[in-house]
Amino acid sequence: MGFPATRLRRTRRTPLLRRMVRETRLTAANLVLPLFVCPGEGIEQPIPSMPGVARQSVDRIVATAAAAHGESVPAVILFGLPEHKDAVGSAAWSDDGIVQRAVRALAAQVPDLLRIVDVCFCEYTDHGHCGVLRPDGSVDNDATLENLTRQAVSLARAGADVVAPSDMMDGRVGAIRRGLDAAGLADTIILAYAAKFASGFYGPFRDAADSTPSFGDRRGYQMDPANRREALREVALDVEEGADVLMVKPAMAYLDVLAALRQRFDHPLAAYHVSGEYAMLKAAAQNGWLDYDRVLMESLVAMRRAGADWILTYAAREAAALLAKGWEE
Ligand code: PBG
Repeated sequence: MGFPATRLRRTRRTPLLRRMVRETRLTAANLVLPLFVCPGEGIEQPIPSMPGVARQSVDRIVATAAAAHGESVPAVILFGLPEHKDAVGSAAWSDDGIVQRAVRALAAQVPDLLRIVDVCFCEYTDHGHCGVLRPDGSVDNDATLENLTRQAVSLARAGADVVAPSDMMDGRVGAIRRGLDAAGLADTIILAYAAKFASGFYGPFRDAADSTPSFGDRRGYQMDPANRREALREVALDVEEGADVLMVKPAMAYLDVLAALRQRFDHPLAAYHVSGEYAMLKAAAQNGWLDYDRVLMESLVAMRRAGADWILTYAAREAAALLAKGWEE
């Protein structure tokens, strides 16, 4: 017997063999495209720190969503830029709000695309925090729960298939579930941003969504990047409260958290490849420093390998196009 006896290179030799021993696959069915809805008509406002991404009015959102659907992207997640902001973010639960209007248009014009909506207040409050403030400037958890529930019910009534609370208040999944059920919306899915870390990688998103806090930061509600065990406790609570799909955010720097969730829970899992992760790839590609297609697909397959069923990424259409061209083969 020759040495070494085990030669892993045997099954790596040809494209055919590599395809036959591949453990993880990325398909277009895994992808969710985030979109930013703004008021007006015919509006496309490119976001400089997110090349290829724009704020779009409802008519443009419908066109983009239809194109994505045609490219086999099965779902979008909507973020809103309201006409008016106030201290509590009341535009978020207006039945005629910007995201409510976009959801209705999508339901009418691209009905087969899954409609996911972000549920949070940072885009709607004039101070940019994710809920109602107490006089001392901290976010009032329980007062915010009521408003989150109103927002979720309003969006589900407008036709959202999935509501995705990203605020990180304690008890929000349970409050939203009860609110939806009481409103006769038992089929609405809750995608919980279950382990959401206080991350610098959200920088470009805050430009896009105009949601940078006017004072302080989000460390009082989002998680400390150093904590994995605490993430498991966060997720366990969301599971108890009735979350249907569990998300880790950001993705790349938190793949260990995702892998730990995959071991512990049998729910579908999602990973959010956030704005800063996307911006890094785009910036390096623009400088000619990285092969964009290759590092993009490597990043996304790594999220699949760690356990993600859904991947929210600004590159969803690019990835779907590469897959359609036979990237995986
Ligand atoms: C709203 C929200 C944020 C993101 C998704 N939902 C921003 C934040 O928490 O500051 C970030 C998404 C991204 O960076 O792509 N709370």
